[in-house]
Amino acid sequence: MDAKLNTIIEKIEDVKKQSGIIEKAGEIIKAGGLVGFPTETVYGLGADALNEEAAAKIYAAKGRPSDNPLIAHISDVGMLADLVKDVPPKAKVLMERFWPGPMTLIFNKSDIVPKGTTGGLNTVAVRMPDNDIARALIEASGTPIAAPSGNLSGKPSPTIAEHMIDDMDGRIDMIIDGGMVGMGLESTIVDMTCEPPMILRPGFITKEMLSEVIGEIEYDPAIFKKPDENLRPKAPGMKYRHYAPSGDFSMYDGEESKVVSAIVEKATQKLKEGKKVGVITTCQHCDLYKSLEQMGAEIITIGDENRLETIANNLYKVLRDFDKKGTEFIYGETFREDDLGKAIMNRLTKAAGYNIISV
Ligand code: TXA
Ligand code: MG
Repeated sequence: MDAKLNTIIEKIEDVKKQSGIIEKAGEIIKAGGLVGFPTETVYGLGADALNEEAAAKIYAAKGRPSDNPLIAHISDVGMLADLVKDVPPKAKVLMERFWPGPMTLIFNKSDIVPKGTTGGLNTVAVRMPDNDIARALIEASGTPIAAPSGNLSGKPSPTIAEHMIDDMDGRIDMIIDGGMVGMGLESTIVDMTCEPPMILRPGFITKEMLSEVIGEIEYDPAIFKKPDENLRPKAPGMKYRHYAPSGDFSMYDGEESKVVSAIVEKATQKLKEGKKVGVITTCQHCDLYKSLEQMGAEIITIGDENRLETIANNLYKVLRDFDKKGTEFIYGETFREDDLGKAIMNRLTKAAGYNIISV
């Protein structure tokens, strides 16, 4: 990392009423600098996707392994043609249906996209975010913006500007505070260079939603298992420890009453050892941990198990809150894996370092 930068922090409530902030941020991107900005999924850390040196700064600021490619964000479908070799017909249909929105598509890259942006790959990931600030910034920059999630590598993705400030203050040129993101989980990634197309990362746009539009589609089988030498996820980023809180995080899976008693037993033991303990639960179950709360455990309600979008929304914030409190041992319940539950469990499983205990 270079010497500490003076990070400008600007708040935008209404993109139509802001004056000069987007223009200033656009100038920073054009000049090869780094800007943190909101999208509908999570906050991104942006740089000019066509400028290899600028992309290199993203890797340095995040401490990100250089083989992990970046997503190029566009503000208009017209920007796609320059970035890719071809647009398969199924991709066109998906774009019409889900862009702008939380869906990233992988294409064969054109020559103008540097390998410094794609982690050395011949493919490029592209998405059009459904967020006015993000699209105005791309327009003002006059270039596609490469943006990973704006967290330090390995940490939970930022869902409010404060998270970006915690991780990136002094490391990047500017952060645009656009309030809390709408969704809280990163986009669904679909590889369109294979047949049938393949989901490389689950997200808000589910397999069912995609296959309603294009028919057959499959999951990369590696994304639901612990990666090893023989099983490598196609999205290089999915092989790394990710979204992880600092504390030791484990999840319990099984019948509800068994899960609760296993968590109570384990947490009680750690509390007796004098450790700082936290539990992640739902509004349906939070009352079942009252005894732990009385013993000093931090019980955090992540959302409503019947409205999985509430859980997606709070997930990263909850993990970061445990970090702020210095929680040493975190116990969590698992969630059903239909629809959005797949994306939620994918992130939680990685956050827990695949430490899921069946009871
Ligand atoms: O919602 C999102 O997608 C957010 C916001 C900021 O747009 N961005 C995001 O970026 O999540 P990042 O860098 O945190 O995750 C991108 C993932 C990584 O797992 C990376 O390996 C994968 O996309 N990826 C990018 N380009 C790829 C490619 N050409 N082939 C396969 N995987 C790719
Ligand atoms: Mg990320």
